[in-house]
Amino acid sequence: MIFVTGGAGFIGANFVLDWLAQVDEPVLNLDKLTYAGNLGNLSPLRNDPRHVFVRGDIGDRKLLQRLLALHRPRAIVNFAAESHVDRSIHGPAEFIDTNVVGTFTLLDAVRAHWSELALAEREAFRFLHVSTDEVYGSLAPDDPAFKESTGYAPNSPYSASKAASDHLVRAYHHTYGLPTLTTHCSNNYGPLQFPEKLIPLMIVNALAGKPLPVYGDGRNVRDWLYVGDHCAALRMVLAKGRVGQTYNIGGNAERANIDVVQTICRVLGKHAAARDYGSLVTFVQDRPGHDRRYAIDATKIRTEFGWLPAETFESGLARTVKWYLDHSEWLRAVTSKEYQNWISLNYAEAEA
Ligand code: NAD
Ligand code: TYD
Repeated sequence: MIFVTGGAGFIGANFVLDWLAQVDEPVLNLDKLTYAGNLGNLSPLRNDPRHVFVRGDIGDRKLLQRLLALHRPRAIVNFAAESHVDRSIHGPAEFIDTNVVGTFTLLDAVRAHWSELALAEREAFRFLHVSTDEVYGSLAPDDPAFKESTGYAPNSPYSASKAASDHLVRAYHHTYGLPTLTTHCSNNYGPLQFPEKLIPLMIVNALAGKPLPVYGDGRNVRDWLYVGDHCAALRMVLAKGRVGQTYNIGGNAERANIDVVQTICRVLGKHAAARDYGSLVTFVQDRPGHDRRYAIDATKIRTEFGWLPAETFESGLARTVKWYLDHSEWLRAVTSKEYQNWISLNYAEAEA
């Protein structure tokens, strides 16, 4: 079996659902169920014996030791993290606890387990660490896109904590020979994304007739990767990646934030009861330290494995908007009191 961490969050849950639909290999899923983790994301697997869910922390070494000894996974896929830049600005400590110390604890428990395996199992073992393009820092408009060789220059507490975890993964390969793989993906979007991130937040606010808060001048650029394409790339890296290597994964879809928001308004205008969603766009005070541009050069994964994203930004966004329109129950469940508190905290300060 494979051992997934953070598999009740956005990308992790999509990965587990896709994995069990396409690869008939059981999954052990460890997730702390923070505000971002939601068992409802995994409800199609409620009666599936191939999915074993454990609520727990990647920083709990004893629990990790027990799970590794009991289930003897052949691979780890580490999604567990605090993942939202704005939250890392308001409260960085949890980012250090989970992303740095938690990843260290996971790596070290896995190393101890791995080093006791028979040679063939040790060689076949993989530790896939899911990181971000944000560790590379911010690009000027004409800079070339991030390559795997681009130097690290993280700018937010979130990206700095992910960079620290990447360095630990690298060191565990270099020093102990742990067979690691690290991926750097761009901004994911798609079903099951918690509505604190740009795309689902804009969909949810638009449907509620609330302002669409665009930071700064709205010209910050992100590359957008449909989550299903990301999961397909991760399966390829896990199967074929060369140990100790890093792989960039991008959607080939650089867009300025304001263009993303206007596209969402247009797509929504076709689906829901017509209204002028565009008039809800509101420019608000910028995020401190806001990175201007991210862009991914995915040549390596394309040439080594033939991976390409199947979705364009337009097709992926249309699927995503439809998913949110069709899942109002899921949205009601995740937009709890804690969510409302976060919105009040973040956007009260952001109002220009
Ligand atoms: P998410 O916030 O939706 O989910 C994170 C999951 O991890 C949640 O289910 C949460 O309960 C769990 N978790 C948090 N702390 C934990 C802990 N200490 N122990 C066990 N579980 C814990 O995040 P996501 O968007 O699904 O991102 C998954 C991974 O991909 C993260 O490592 C993130 O840094 C990386 N990533 C995400 C994006 C993106 O656009 N969403 C882009 C690049 C990289
Ligand atoms: P986000 O989804 O938080 O991802 P990241 O910061 O990791 O790239 O934000 C994507 C972009 O959208 C980023 O440039 C910040 C911007 N943004 C807004 O303009 N308004 C918002 O309310 C949010 C959440 C993000």
